[in-house]
Amino acid sequence: MQGTIERVLLSEETIHARIDELGKQLNDDYDGGQILAVCLLKGSMIFMSDLIRRLNMPITLEVMRASSYGQAMESSGSVKILQDLDRDISGMDVLVVEDIVDTGRTLAKTLDLLRFRKPKTLKVCSLLDKPSRRVISIDIDYTGFVIEDHFVVGYGLDFDEHYRQLPYIGVLKL
Ligand code: IMP
Repeated sequence: MQGTIERVLLSEETIHARIDELGKQLNDDYDGGQILAVCLLKGSMIFMSDLIRRLNMPITLEVMRASSYGQAMESSGSVKILQDLDRDISGMDVLVVEDIVDTGRTLAKTLDLLRFRKPKTLKVCSLLDKPSRRVISIDIDYTGFVIEDHFVVGYGLDFDEHYRQLPYIGVLKL
């Protein structure tokens, strides 16, 4: 499997250093508050687990799952919520944690649904942003890295369910 990684885009050290910075920013911004953190499965699991261990405020953790690419490298255009939250988020400070924003379709649909439930605040923290591929405009409050139009895997991101366990983010050889 390692043989099909063209190159390392973001090393383990680089990722962790950036998550340290994001953690500090979130600790400042939510000082005195508490967060309901929503992990968008499955790609954000590893980012989420590293991020929340840098946060000082009380956190409750929830998961959601929306359809992503399946076995393809392009999103299909229609997004389905496969697993929803099982609690009320009204009046809460909600932070959605995402692995990568590509076309923006998945996040746009997810945010619409969450906004409808009247959280007090709704913010997004995405490890990666591929703005050149955007189809729907999305405001990302906290971004780890802006990247070029590569298909990347590792650190939670997959291709056909593989490569999630890599500690770095690599460009997949097409
Ligand atoms: P979007 O709806 O096109 O923004 O796609 C978002 C979802 O597609 C992400 O949460 C990922 O699951 C997946 N995705 C987008 N780009 C990549 C990539 O480069 N590698 C792996 N998964 C990706």
